[in-house]
Amino acid sequence: MAGRIIGFLGSPLPEGNTARLLDRALKGAEDAGCSVEKISLATLCFEDCQEMFFCKDHETCTMDDDMQELYPKIRDADGIIIATPIMCMGIPGKLKSFMDRCQVFYMAKYLRKESLIPAEKRATRRVLFICISGMKIPETFVGARLTAKAFCDIIDSRYADELLINDMDTLVDVTRHPELLDAAYQKGQALGNALNP
Ligand SMILES: Cc1cc2nc3c(=O)[nH]c(=O)nc-3n(C[C@H](O)[C@H](O)[C@H](O)COP(=O)(O)O)c2cc1C
Repeated sequence: MAGRIIGFLGSPLPEGNTARLLDRALKGAEDAGCSVEKISLATLCFEDCQEMFFCKDHETCTMDDDMQELYPKIRDADGIIIATPIMCMGIPGKLKSFMDRCQVFYMAKYLRKESLIPAEKRATRRVLFICISGMKIPETFVGARLTAKAFCDIIDSRYADELLINDMDTLVDVTRHPELLDAAYQKGQALGNALNP
């Protein structure tokens, strides 16, 4: 089986709309021949980045928490799906802290000029960004998309695709909108297919 895809859930709800979209995207990737793993960040224990800068000279963070298990998973992934709701016009705090703690990859890549990601993976790694919001206004996804793209740079992945769904306050329940779940499946399958040409 070629291609290892990790889906990071940014919503605290294990069976919310974001989680259901992520599940469909992962199923699409699995059907495309990839191995998949879902990680609910809300269930993990890790702190915000404390700017101790241990990672300036080391390949990991000095804080011994659940991020230590995530670093090798991020390093070894061929594809990543980030699925998150919008909160206060940005991404939720836990997901943001997770991304901030990936400063480990930033320091290796930009400061020491020796990325932690193997060169052959760097050429093909892809991210699918799934983001949903309650409101329906043009600016809803601007900040979240910038954050997701910065994260992609840091972990040496291409921001390959996105599924942005607004107006969830009106739509309420994604299971009543099979076309949205289907869109998530198709995006996940496309991600998987891109890794298994
Ligand atoms: C604390 C909180 C803050 C939110 N802030 C925004 C916001 O600023 N803009 C917006 O469009 N939706 C906002 N929402 C709505 C969520 O994006 C929306 O309900 C989404 O469908 C939640 O997905 P989930 O149920 O999978 O977690 C917020 C929701 C919560 C709980």
